[in-house]
Amino acid sequence: MNVYDSEAMARVLAAQGYELTPHKKDADCLLLNTCAIRAKAEQKVFSYLGRLVGLKANNPDLIIGVGGCVAQQEAHRLLERVPYVDFVFGPHAINQLPEIVSRAERGGKRVVVTDFTDTFQEITQPLLDRKPQEESGITAFVTIMAGCDNYCTYCVVPHVRGREMSRDSKAILHEVENLAAKGMKEITLLGQNVNSYGNKEGFGSFADLLKQIHGIPGVQRIRFTTSHPKDLSPELIQAFATLPKLCKHIHLPVQSGSNRILKKMNRGYTREDYLEKVRALRAACPEIRLTTDIIAGFPSETEEDFQDTMDLIREADYDSLFAFMYSDRPLAPAAKFPGKLSETVKHQRLARVLEVSEEITRAKHYALVGTVQRVLVEGRSQQNPQQWRGRTTGHVTVNFLAPACGDLVGKQVDVMIENGYSNSLLGALKGEDDQCPQPPTEESHAA
Ligand code: 5AD
Ligand code: SF4
Repeated sequence: MNVYDSEAMARVLAAQGYELTPHKKDADCLLLNTCAIRAKAEQKVFSYLGRLVGLKANNPDLIIGVGGCVAQQEAHRLLERVPYVDFVFGPHAINQLPEIVSRAERGGKRVVVTDFTDTFQEITQPLLDRKPQEESGITAFVTIMAGCDNYCTYCVVPHVRGREMSRDSKAILHEVENLAAKGMKEITLLGQNVNSYGNKEGFGSFADLLKQIHGIPGVQRIRFTTSHPKDLSPELIQAFATLPKLCKHIHLPVQSGSNRILKKMNRGYTREDYLEKVRALRAACPEIRLTTDIIAGFPSETEEDFQDTMDLIREADYDSLFAFMYSDRPLAPAAKFPGKLSETVKHQRLARVLEVSEEITRAKHYALVGTVQRVLVEGRSQQNPQQWRGRTTGHVTVNFLAPACGDLVGKQVDVMIENGYSNSLLGALKGEDDQCPQPPTEESHAA
């Protein structure tokens, strides 16, 4: 989501003559887009800002602005704490950046802009030719909603991103059409809870939106994140069976396997409800890859509650998971809950989840050895430039060799999987003669 928002910032400032630069020493204006989801993300913002002190000292005209969720949360405190920050702007203030930056250019008063708007803030400036964060130019993010109304008790999001607001489907379709015209093959739809898309505004359901995007020529793959389990509809589950371009992967954060803790988290489902949805997903689409988020050490979590989580991880048969130690967020109600666990216990529980998680992922990846996977190629492998890198429909990274091939970026190819690791698969292009674009000849180079 922040990748998308950072690009939105670049778009609105491009209209004012600003261009992206890869080196911060060349910048006239530095914008930090920040995350407040856990304490660690927030600490990173302040240590990064600390490292900018020399840059500002060398170039007093440099403008430094802090945006995103930490900006929203800290507001004036941020200006007080970091004297060389020129302005602070929340997630709803992106469209106001031209005014805010102009004011800073004129040496105006330091400002904090953190008001919430009532409707989704459309970015009307054109898409950039070069997408800043997506070097492959093959996959793109598209935000379809902002904010969240779920108020999970541990979570800062509703407090810093505001109430849930869906984006008009016409604007979404228009953006996807433009991205497809620029050669993007894979679109990832973003929202805190995409399953409740359009509910308030009456824009039609998320499943309807998926069907419309499915019809756009040039779009080869569609992904989305994140799905709240309580709102996962039978219609959306069926979409995995009926829409071939919809990737066979769902990230369905469970957070805990204990009904007592789920209630305290205000998640709105029980472990039984959750597992029922997992069964329905697998019945509709047996090859679906299932991933989740787990919070270890929520206030008052007992060893028994934690065991329920460990059992659920096995029962749901996840392909992979992300796990986090519970972290107090000052604006979230759980910060005041009794029964806080020690850092040691939280660490130990996190380590136990991560150990199972690694074991599961490695086993799942290893089970794919000997199969053929359809891979959308994104570029060269980071570790070994001889290899190509892409992803399966399930969102697993595959590195593979295709020595006699020309450029494969943006192509979907069949890869024979030869080995599985905890983060990726290794393979070789299957039937190179049939799938390979011809390498460029000397003549075509000259032309
Ligand atoms: N502490 C730990 N993890 C958190 N998450 C959200 N808030 C917190 C918190 N206060 C995790 C959840 C969520 C993911 C994006 O971050 O697991 O799904
Ligand atoms: Fe946070 Fe819960 Fe909303 Fe997700 S659904 S953003 S965890 S409040």
